[in-house]
Amino acid sequence: MRITTDTIIGKLVADDYRTAPVFKRYGIDFCCNGNRTIADACPEAETDQLLRDLEGATAEAGAAGMDYKSWPLDLLADYIEKKHHRYVDTRLVEISPFLEKIVRVHGGHHPELAEVEQLFKESAGELTVHMKKEEFMLFPYIRKMVNAQKEGIPVQAPFGSVQNPVQAMMHDHDGEGERFRRIAELTGHYTPPEDACNTYRVTLSLLKEFEEDLHLHIHLENNILFPGAVALEETLASA
Ligand SMILES: [Fe+2]
Ligand SMILES: [Fe+2]
Repeated sequence: MRITTDTIIGKLVADDYRTAPVFKRYGIDFCCNGNRTIADACPEAETDQLLRDLEGATAEAGAAGMDYKSWPLDLLADYIEKKHHRYVDTRLVEISPFLEKIVRVHGGHHPELAEVEQLFKESAGELTVHMKKEEFMLFPYIRKMVNAQKEGIPVQAPFGSVQNPVQAMMHDHDGEGERFRRIAELTGHYTPPEDACNTYRVTLSLLKEFEEDLHLHIHLENNILFPGAVALEETLASA
């Protein structure tokens, strides 16, 4: 695969998920801000090394990770809902009491934990509403469009164009990305301090895993599912 400074980051990660950890290492957001070229996202001094690292990551033979791009859009919507939405629901319930506990026990020496807990609470509330909007409005319409294409029947969007909910969901994603960037910053990228007890360590490692899952989840929506839905709507309109 030829990677240049004009390559769009989100598209590259959609083609080969092995590039995601490389972007992560360079602090480049590939999910919420995937619609940028490498030249736009990377400081010029680091571009050559980044291109070499990306070539290295994609050069090895073998699986480029799951090829989500080739999946039908209804399958991808089902997968996101069953895998990522369920994961968020489960983890929100598990992480909250851990955070409460470490704020109570360690908040004196680590005042930043209170802000982490506050941010996580906001995230829990907003993500829950966000996922419901996808599950009850956007994803069912994507399934309907896939069906309409198969059956050759017309379909009417209840919200004008699919672009409208897509824009709104991407806006929510930006907010979540921002919140987790702050959580990562406050926790020194999830590094437990010397005096951390086991619960503290477990909480940070759960938060880290949660952020990683969120990045993949948002990547699948922003860079694959949503552009696919917009393209499908155009195809149906011109048919
Ligand atoms: Fe989602
Ligand atoms: Fe989403």
